[in-house]
Formats: sequence, structure tokens, C-alpha cells
Amino acid sequence: MDKILVTGGLGFIGSHTVVELQNEGYEVVIIDDLSNSSEKVLDGIVAITGKKPVFEKLDLKEKDKVEAFFAKHSDVKGVIHFAASKAVGESVNEPLKYYENNIGTLVYILKELRKLPSAGFIFSSSCTVYGQADELPITENAPVKQAESPYGNTKQIGEEIIKDTCKVSPNLKAIALRYFNPVGAHESVEIGELPIGVPQNLVPFITQTAIGLRDELSVFGEDYPTPDGTCIRDYIHVVDLAKAHVIALKRLLEGKNKSSYETFNLGTGTGSSVLEVIKSFEKVSGKKLNYKVVGRREGDIISAYADTDKANNELGWKTGLSLDDAMRSAWKWECKVRGK
Ligand code: UD1
Repeated sequence: MDKILVTGGLGFIGSHTVVELQNEGYEVVIIDDLSNSSEKVLDGIVAITGKKPVFEKLDLKEKDKVEAFFAKHSDVKGVIHFAASKAVGESVNEPLKYYENNIGTLVYILKELRKLPSAGFIFSSSCTVYGQADELPITENAPVKQAESPYGNTKQIGEEIIKDTCKVSPNLKAIALRYFNPVGAHESVEIGELPIGVPQNLVPFITQTAIGLRDELSVFGEDYPTPDGTCIRDYIHVVDLAKAHVIALKRLLEGKNKSSYETFNLGTGTGSSVLEVIKSFEKVSGKKLNYKVVGRREGDIISAYADTDKANNELGWKTGLSLDDAMRSAWKWECKVRGK
């Protein structure tokens, strides 16, 4: 079976994707620098799949090590590239860290892929490239808007770099997957999200509040022009998201892609407000969540949810899990991690 490199394969979305790749029989090699993950995640992957992927601790910023890696693994047929920094606020304060981590390393990998006889490349992009879209749901044709942060900019520039490289590399095919809001955990609760420090994202903040790690959740604004006044997002279960990566990779390996560079939205197609997410959590956990409405968070868009037609019809992928499923698994995971 084909050998696939997963960078950032011990992270939240990466580890779930490794599981799905191994379930499909792929031989997986993981690169991770452990900056925001732990080697223990490997045990979770083994517990689910019964197979231990090859793991190399490697910092992709070290160009000579990246070269050496590809010299050793010249039989790699595909790369799913998750490794990146992803804290929006931090990126504003440390832009160069983000450009080096997210752009520098992308260039190094693409340079190596150009040397291979053929390669498929899957890039973790984000719905953040659309900013506040003028029309909802958001299709892949919606214009890319001026990025709000260096993090968002690295996703936009990353897409451009890949597109330009594919144009001049007959051996290279790529897909950028634009994720909406990934949440939840594997149903086995062997793997899940492990945010370091105070979580910035809604769902880990909810579960940490419910378990007693945080006093209360701040709901950022209830005066938005939405039905209940809170912001709307498209929360997608991480297992559905992981499966989309395997389907996208197969599309490239089997030559079913329509052009050498494609983009797909990965979302459920349904928008949920912050209050709806809280309600879902309360329903599946049976716990009342302590929360308070505060002012708006700077930089938040009002509403974003995916038009899923292209992913459904062209990629042949659909979500199978609901927001309730995601909240249930996120809660089970939080309880397990905290030993409760
Ligand atoms: C954020 C990033 C986005 C990134 C994504 C990765 C910002 C502005 N955007 O998206 O670029 O791709 O994470 O996962 O940081 N909320 C609360 N209280 C909280 C936390 C969040 O009310 O404590 C609300 C937010 O206002 C928002 C929703 O929950 O309406 C989701 O927030 P979050 O999980 O941070 O995701 P995004 O802002 O959509």
C-alpha cells in the first residue's frame, strides 16, 4: 500500500487522519516536532487501529533534515500537511514565527516533492480565507478576502504558493481543504483535542468550563444580526473531516482530480450559533453550563457556513456525524483526560 507522510500527525486533526489512513490500509509516516502535541498520541492511534505508524520527531524548519527525510523516504506517494502554528492572536504578536513556521516549511516540502516521480499533496487551509463572505452558504468561488491576521494570511499565501508550484510541476497534484470549525473527538476517546493553556476556541472552552477547569464561558456578543444574536459557525466533527482527507488523497493518487490544484470546503453546511452549541452540549452532557454574555471579540466574523455541493458531488464526501455527536465525544474526551 502507498506510503503517506503526515506532517503534524500527532496533532488534533492530524492524529484523527492518521487513524483513517491506517484503517484504509495506507502505510503512514508521521513527522511532528511535538511543539503542540505529545508522543503519547501514538498510543491512542495504536489502541484504535492496532498499528503503530512510523514516527520521526523533526522540525520542518530544519531544511537539511527535511531533505534527508525525503532522501530516506523517496517512496512517499502523498503528503498530508497539517504541521503549522494556528493561534490567531499569537500570530498578530509574532508574525515572523507564523511566516517561518507555516510558509517557510511549506516551501521546503514542496521543493522535495518536485524531485519525486509523482506526488499528491493535501494542504490544511481554512474558511478564514473567505473572511466575512458576502453570500451564505459559502462556495469555493467566494472571493478570498484580505486576511485579518498573519495566521489567516499564511493560509492564503500557502494556497497561492501551492497553486503556482503545481503550474510548473507536472509530477505534482494538490488539493487545499478549507476547514470550517473542527470539533469533537474520536468515539473511542483514545485521541482528541489537547489545547495548551487557556483554550481560545469555543468547544474546548465549554468542556473545560463544565469539568471545572474554568469558572465560566464568556459568550462573545449577543447583538449580532443573527436569529439569537450570537455568531454562527459551521462546526464539523473531526472524524468526518479526517475521512475527507483520505478521500481527497485517493482522488489524487488515482488521478481523478480535474486540475492539478483544487480547493474544497469541508463543513456540514449547517450553521450553529454559540447558544445552540451550548444547548447541544447541555443536552448531551446533562450538565448546566456556567456562561455569561460579554462584549464582542475583536476580529470575529458574524456568520460562516459551507456550501457543501462541491465536496459532496465532486469529491464524493459527506458528513455523517452531527453537532450532538461532536459535543458528546468532546465531553467524553474531556472527562477521560481529566480522569473523571
Ligand atoms: C478561529 C479563528 C480562525 C481559525 C479557527 C481555528 C479567530 C477570530 N478565528 O475561528 O481563524 O481558523 O479558530 O479553529 O480567532 N466564542 C465565544 N467564547 C469563547 C470562544 C469562542 O463566544 O470563549 C465564540 C466566538 O465568538 C465565535 C465562536 O464561538 O463566534 C467560535 O469561535 P472559535 O472556536 O474561536 O472559532 P472561530 O472564531 O470561528
